[in-house]
Amino acid sequence: MTTDTIFNITKTSSSRIDNVDLDTPGFGREFADHMLEMEYKDGQWQQPEIKPYGPIEITPSLNALHYAQSVFEGTKAYYVDGETINLFRPEKNYERMMRSCERMCIPKMDRDIFIEGIKELIQLDHQWVPQKDGNSLYIRPFACAFDPIISARVAETYRFYIITSPVGSYYDRPVKLTTSQQYVRAVRGGVGDAKTAGNYAASLYPAQKAKKQGFDQVLWLDAEEHTYVEEVGTMNIFFVIDGVLVTPDLRGTILPGVTRDSVVQLAKHWGMPVEERRISIDEVMEAGENDMLDEVFGAGTAAVIAPVEEVHHDGQSVTFDIDGRGPVGQKLYNRITAIQRGQAEDPFGWITSVKVD
Ligand code: COI
Repeated sequence: MTTDTIFNITKTSSSRIDNVDLDTPGFGREFADHMLEMEYKDGQWQQPEIKPYGPIEITPSLNALHYAQSVFEGTKAYYVDGETINLFRPEKNYERMMRSCERMCIPKMDRDIFIEGIKELIQLDHQWVPQKDGNSLYIRPFACAFDPIISARVAETYRFYIITSPVGSYYDRPVKLTTSQQYVRAVRGGVGDAKTAGNYAASLYPAQKAKKQGFDQVLWLDAEEHTYVEEVGTMNIFFVIDGVLVTPDLRGTILPGVTRDSVVQLAKHWGMPVEERRISIDEVMEAGENDMLDEVFGAGTAAVIAPVEEVHHDGQSVTFDIDGRGPVGQKLYNRITAIQRGQAEDPFGWITSVKVD
């Protein structure tokens, strides 16, 4: 089947690309010319459309607005040369989105709609992929309930969209993290491992409080004992302790990040000791006090590899005198971004190249 038969395509008659500075796009403020839209009704997904990016009409009673039956993904497209744009592990995003859909009772869509839809959008909007190092075209697939009814039940109608946005770095300087003894991000049996809107909404108030105290984000601890490190909400977390790369293991309360998985695979491939396990905040703080905490960084699609300057917990801080990434974070960043840009070998088969014309 060709993509023309999968998608009903309407091209824009006036591109907006000349209004955008692709060298300094910020994050998620500008959107490329086209988007994918697909409706679910009568028990099935309908034919997907690719059309000019623009507003959608909703009613105030739209149930997604009230009850957050909604999931999303984040992946990126990278400029290689005038003929090639690279996608990084988009099938991992598809698989995760299907798990999120299942958890949120949203009907799953075909793999081809997701993957070929992204490729088709990249074909159409390849000029929106920034060429500057560190910049990329962020791809945001999302699906949500679309019933015009404010009853709290599984919806009967849905929409699936893919929009794309030229982006620079998510964090433009090393981040300061604090734990919270009062708030938690996710509980076992909850939705912490689904990429669903409510996880992000629930994190805003604690993050706002942390910001008022001079921190950038909350380093979440587990909900039962307030002891074990989980993630940052915008990214997974890694510690280098005495040369060992340690990250919390996946036990249902943290997001299984694609960048997290790539960091773990790459470090193991290099022969670096890697431990995915429970790690208590006390262990982190003690390692800091004993000069064993070599570096801390976050990993995520938006954040890529984001250095951490401070970890604050219970009145104590471990700080790093840095203005960029530490050696391990930098080595990982260099290799991951080089693979993404087609400048380094891809031994894991992570890249899907799109030929553009
Ligand atoms: C991503 O890294 O793709 C995310 O969805 C995180 C979000 C805070 C931008």
